[in-house]
Amino acid sequence: MTETYKVLLLPGDGIGPEVMRQVRKVTDWLGRKRGLGFELDEGLLGGAAYDAHGTPLPRETLDQAHAADAVLLGAVGGDRWEDLPFDKKPERGLLGIRKELGLFANLRPALVFEAMASASTLKEDVVSGLDLMIVRELTGGIYFGEPAGIEDQADGTQRGVNTLVYTTPEVDRIARVAFDLARKRDKRVCSVDKANVLQATAMWRDAVTRLGAAEYPDVALSHMYVDNAAMQLVRDPRQFDVMVTTNMFGDILSDAAAMLTGSLGMLPSASLGEPDANGQRPALYEPVHGSAPDIAGQDKANPLAAILSFAMMLRYSFDREAEAALVEHAVSDTLGGGLRTQDIMQAGMAKVSTTVMGEAVIREMDKLHNEGQ
Ligand code: IPM
Ligand code: MG
Repeated sequence: MTETYKVLLLPGDGIGPEVMRQVRKVTDWLGRKRGLGFELDEGLLGGAAYDAHGTPLPRETLDQAHAADAVLLGAVGGDRWEDLPFDKKPERGLLGIRKELGLFANLRPALVFEAMASASTLKEDVVSGLDLMIVRELTGGIYFGEPAGIEDQADGTQRGVNTLVYTTPEVDRIARVAFDLARKRDKRVCSVDKANVLQATAMWRDAVTRLGAAEYPDVALSHMYVDNAAMQLVRDPRQFDVMVTTNMFGDILSDAAAMLTGSLGMLPSASLGEPDANGQRPALYEPVHGSAPDIAGQDKANPLAAILSFAMMLRYSFDREAEAALVEHAVSDTLGGGLRTQDIMQAGMAKVSTTVMGEAVIREMDKLHNEGQ
């Protein structure tokens, strides 16, 4: 029997469309070789949506997202839209869709592929074998807290305000995601906060501690201040298994963690919401890299983060662990074979285009499939 998964593709801006084309090769292949049916829809988000409809998040895109089982996003943003008012900026489209779909849990794995360990800016013996998961709260905290804005003062100066706010239920649900993931990994969670200065995160720390003791006594919980965590990430990243943290700290730490792996171009992410009555979670998957307008349309972008994001979709939305692992294995083998896009180029390797990289992954998937994986 052929299963059908409804996937909404949002190529977005910059290199988004070209990396997304490589993902389509993977979905085609899975249809042909593994009998997985994908019903692919495509929509507009970010600058592309603004150009077409005057808003970075059209109603129609939200309707499409609600109708889909999962969403795959390319990237949003670019210099062209930088001077727009805040509510029209491409980034608003991304923040808006996260909020509208209730995608409170952002999973950002930082995994060093064996073939890539020497590409990190850190020493190979510090990063080789790294396998860390950052769980970032995504719909609360200072990104969404009220009041927020820029006010003109009577004396001609301005006042800019953002508010960091969390409630116990918000902390509990993100901490649960982290604890549950840790149970399937090395059973260690490090919660990152600034509890020595910010009350909202002192409360975060207490809530995580309480939940851990009550529901996850089998998971080892530790706490770290964010400044120390940033330092520890570059000093000895392998000490971490799962890190859980606020929206803004997660934004910052996940870029640092991503770079440990050699390139932002390699890193996928998943953003998940609350499961519905059937256990299905709203979900959006996206590469961590941005829209890279400087190389857009030149067939130079690294499609691996997008392909790996799709693998996360197979795992977390469709429970297709075998196929997720197959795609990841194929990416690893492609790198092992010496192919590199320009962002991860190293001496002695073969520099290839976006298209060639996508095709190479398909070839490796073929090989693995024929070997019985
Ligand atoms: C990310 C990005 C976004 C964020 C921007 C583009 C709104 O940096 O996904 O990490 O800050 O969350
Ligand atoms: Mg970011």
